This record gives sequence, C-alpha cells and structure tokens, in this order.
Amino acid sequence: MSQTTPGSFAIADDGVDPRRVPQRVLWTGARMPAIGLGTFGSDRFSGDDIAAAVIGAAEVGYRHFDCAAVYGNEHLIGASLETILGGGIPREELWVTSKLWNDKHDPADVIPAFRSSLRDLRLEYLDLYLIHWPFPNHHAPGVDVTSRAPNARPYIHEEFMATWRELENLVDMGLVRHIGTSNMTIPKLKLLLRDARIKPACNEMEQHPCFQQPELFKFVMEAGIVPIGFAPIGSPTRPDRDRTADDAVDIEEPAIVAIARRLGVHPATVCVKWAAQRGQVPIPFSIYRNEYLSNLRSTVSEPLTDEEMAAVAACDRNSRLIKGQVFLWKDGQSWEDLWDLDGTIAQ
Ligand SMILES: NC(=O)c1ccc[n+]([C@@H]2O[C@H](COP(=O)([O-])OP(=O)(O)OC[C@H]3O[C@@H](n4cnc5c(N)ncnc54)[C@H](OP(=O)(O)O)[C@@H]3O)[C@@H](O)[C@H]2O)c1
Repeated sequence: MSQTTPGSFAIADDGVDPRRVPQRVLWTGARMPAIGLGTFGSDRFSGDDIAAAVIGAAEVGYRHFDCAAVYGNEHLIGASLETILGGGIPREELWVTSKLWNDKHDPADVIPAFRSSLRDLRLEYLDLYLIHWPFPNHHAPGVDVTSRAPNARPYIHEEFMATWRELENLVDMGLVRHIGTSNMTIPKLKLLLRDARIKPACNEMEQHPCFQQPELFKFVMEAGIVPIGFAPIGSPTRPDRDRTADDAVDIEEPAIVAIARRLGVHPATVCVKWAAQRGQVPIPFSIYRNEYLSNLRSTVSEPLTDEEMAAVAACDRNSRLIKGQVFLWKDGQSWEDLWDLDGTIAQ
C-alpha cells in the first residue's frame, strides 16, 4: 500500500511524508531531519533485524540513519540503503551518519577506516562523520565495565586534533559533508572550536528526560553546533553491563506517563517528542514498525503544551546511563573523570 507509483520506493499509507518532518539547519546551511533511526543493537538485536528496520523506517518516512563502524552492521545496512536508493529516493534526501571507532584515531588509520564504512554502507559520500569518543582507548566489544586497554590514556588535545585534521581532509576530498564529535564535554569542545579549521556541525550526546545536560546543550546551541541526542528513551534495552541500581527510568517518570495517557501513546514516544520539540535531534532505536513509526509521528503531531514541556524539564535527575567506564586510563578512577565535571579536562 503506497501513495506513489509501483516500482518506486513509496511511503506507506500510514507513514509520515518526509517533507513534514522537522529539519535542523547546520552552520553550513544544510538541513538534517530532526529525528533519525538509531542502529546500535545493544547485544540484543541482530544486524539483519536492524537492516530490515532501516528499510521499514524509510517506508514510513525516516530519512536519517545513525550508524557506526563499531555497531558491526554497516555492511548489512549498506544493502538496505542500496535498496532504498535503488527504489528512487534521491541521495540528497537521505542523511547518513557514521563514526570513527577508538582504535582508529591514529592519523594513518582515519581515512582507511572512513573508506571502510563508506564501502560497507555502499555510498559515495556520508552526510556526517563523528569521532565516536574523544579517547583512543580501545576495548573489545561486549567486555565488562572493569576492562581497561593496557595503553589507555586521558584526552590529549594534540592527538585529538591530529585525528580531527584527517576528518577535515575528508571534507576537502568531498567524501563527507559534515564532521562532528560525540561524547564531548564543554572544556574539550572549547579547545576544538579554538583550533578547528572546519568547525564541528554536530555533537552526539546522551540526552533523555532524566539526563538533559542543560549546560552542554546550551553551550552547543550557542556555538551553532546541532546536538544529536542518543538514548532518547533512556535506552531501556541497553546491555546489562551498562546498568546500575541508581539509574533513572525515563519511561516510568510520572510526568511522562501522565502525558502519554493524555495522548494515548507509549511514554517512549513522549520522550522522543519532547526531545525534538526542545531542539535536539533524537535518534531512537527500534526494530519494531509500530515503535519507530510512532516515534516519527510524534515529531509531526500537535506539540506538547508549555506546562507539559516544563513538567518534562523537571524530570532531569542528572542520571547518566552510558558512563563510559571502559575508557578510564588509570587505577582508582571513577567514571566521572571522563566527563570533566569541574570544568577542567581530567589527566
Ligand atoms: N554516540 C554514542 O556514543 C552513542 C551511544 C549510545 C547510542 N547511540 C545511538 O543512539 C541510538 C539510540 O540509543 P539506544 O538504542 O541506546 O536507546 P533508546 O533509543 O533510548 O532506546 C531504545 C529502546 O527503546 C524502546 N523503544 C523505542 N521506541 C519505542 C516506542 N515507541 N515504544 C516503546 N518502546 C520503544 C525499544 O525497546 P523494545 O525493543 O524493548 O521495545 C528500544 O530497544 C543507538 O541505536 C545509536 O544509534 C550513540
């Protein structure tokens, strides 16, 4: 069932016209869809299921896909993107992001790593390429949070800039339209903004009602950097290793449950709706059609009231879920050292 002719890649009758989906304008003047589909399977979902969800999501109106080399599924998503593009969706309508993993920060490794993602995704260019974490500290996928790389080190700005220079080269080469960061802090971003030849377009950061990061959010907005909010629903299916007893549960917050009841939707979609209305770009994950469709619909339906926006704002518990323990570099540290809480970069 579709709204366009057979043979073309059509929007499902119950889908959302991509032209109705809000857009964010980047400092380059380019526009990105203000919601994307996450593609990290959290150890629970297979690459094939995620690749199928990419096609399903495009059929209901998604045009933005958040990928990463470390998710291990770009080669499968690439086949889905080929199907979508082969079905007649113009490349300019899609927004595809990928990320450089921590074991590829060495300047000699950056361009080959990028080309590998580009090849796997079966594209000629990417819309956005991010440095996934500001630390080069590699660890094997799925290891326990106590695991440490033997040569792990803190953020070293000169090394980060050497990696950034290679991302800038990728822009010069026409292989990527925008470059950006992920899991950064204000002090680290200040140094990058001081030294970058090409300014970051986006910063991907954890953002959900119980973890709003108001200072970092304000900082990036004022710097003209678009915040992409990961784990927008509070990542209810995140791996067990990323859970602690104190973690807040966004979809059980009374204010969010009350709004969901009023709207007749799942609390998850209230989190997504709030995020898009606040101004960040949520990238909710789901392989289930009813879920990813309702998440997309939430961005085009009647806005939350001012009172509801205020009620969700009051849910902030400063509850970081993705703490990053595996990136710590010396004994006796706690995960807070990764996040520069006192305004200085921990060494
Ligand atoms: N840059 C980074 O370092 C970083 C880190 C983490 C994540 N990310 C990106 O952000 C994306 C999203 O984060 P995330 O996957 O951790 O968490 P999330 O999007 O907050 O949560 C995903 C889970 O929420 C549930 N859900 C989604 N839509 C729903 C709906 N409408 N109704 C009910 N439940 C719904 C699903 O659980 P059920 O399957 O149980 O329904 C799904 O598995 C990732 O996929 C990845 O692309 C980036």
